Amino acid sequence: MAPTVTPQIQSSLSQIPGNSGQQSGRTLAILGCGAMGTAILSGIISFQDSSSGTQEIDLLPTRFIACVRRLESADAIRSKLPCEALDSTVSVYVNNNCAAVREADVILLACQPHLYKPLLQESGICAALKGKPVISVLAGVASSEIKRHLVQIFDKESTDIHDLDAVFDAFSVIRAMPNIASAVQASSTVLEIDSQPLTGDIIATARAIFSCVGTVFTTTPEQFGICTTLNGSTPAFFAMVIDGLVDGAVALGLSHTEATQMAATTMRGTADLIMSGKSTLDLRYEVACPGGATIQGLQVLEEARTRAVWMRAMAAATSEQSSLGEGLKVSRRGA
Ligand SMILES: NC(=O)c1ccc[n+]([C@@H]2O[C@H](COP(=O)([O-])OP(=O)(O)OC[C@H]3O[C@@H](n4cnc5c(N)ncnc54)[C@H](OP(=O)(O)O)[C@@H]3O)[C@@H](O)[C@H]2O)c1
Repeated sequence: MAPTVTPQIQSSLSQIPGNSGQQSGRTLAILGCGAMGTAILSGIISFQDSSSGTQEIDLLPTRFIACVRRLESADAIRSKLPCEALDSTVSVYVNNNCAAVREADVILLACQPHLYKPLLQESGICAALKGKPVISVLAGVASSEIKRHLVQIFDKESTDIHDLDAVFDAFSVIRAMPNIASAVQASSTVLEIDSQPLTGDIIATARAIFSCVGTVFTTTPEQFGICTTLNGSTPAFFAMVIDGLVDGAVALGLSHTEATQMAATTMRGTADLIMSGKSTLDLRYEVACPGGATIQGLQVLEEARTRAVWMRAMAAATSEQSSLGEGLKVSRRGA
């Protein structure tokens, strides 16, 4: 069967202008700027700082509004961003989402999945969102659900009679699933490309933004859940692999710091080899000589049914997504 996930080469990156304090471009409001929103924001800022391109491109934001509810969260964002960015291009708004959306040209929806409905219901937000591209990184929430919710709010708030299909079309929402490595511009991000028409502008905007923070793929709505786990969740899985290897090395006498650096560097090198075209099978047998030491380690992993365990982990994380937007509370603080 032909693969439906298509990598998009970062072809336009050299054309994206550096951020030399210019304020004339677009404004991105991040509604819910926690771990993921801050990782994306940091990645875009680092990219713009390091980019020397000067050609005109209108799609990338040059000003950012990071929105949260609590002062502690605002402080956490400030502590993670460079002072120059806070002075010039980034504003942090606390409980001021509506103003952020009004000032923005593009919106990144990045709150916890169960909180998106109350957020969009805040006074004035729905009207301000009409016609603006909304990029959602909410796990487990389809873009059509977000649009339907916006239509319901719009219908309630307005006394006029509307063609609700036309109102539905007036909201533009694209689903994206990046990962936490956005902060170091090494995310794998998947964009959902639906059969229903999305304007070229929102797809190009999302692609431009996520190309700044890594590699962009596209997929269908049907396969988006699997890609959500592969892109969004697996950094936690890979961290667990490293933890186990590091603990093993520490048990044998290596320091935690040295072991972590070596294990992570080796993981990155292995990923680079696979990305260069080497198959995982060839790779394993190039490392594991007949009768050698590596195959003894692999035997332990096989006896523990490690591959079956990873397969079950993929299935569990993917099946859990469906209830996230419907009230299952996912929060770092019980919010
Ligand atoms: N973390 C990941 O690795 C990852 C990967 C892929 C996708 N995602 C998706 O990204 C989204 C955010 O995840 P996260 O890990 O970044 O969660 P998080 O760290 O808990 O951040 C969520 C943020 O949303 C803010 N928020 C909630 N309601 C708000 C409102 N009404 N107005 C303004 N801000 C509001 C919270 O602000 P307060 O702190 O002030 O309450 C918090 O800063 C989720 O939908 C998740 O599925 C996450």
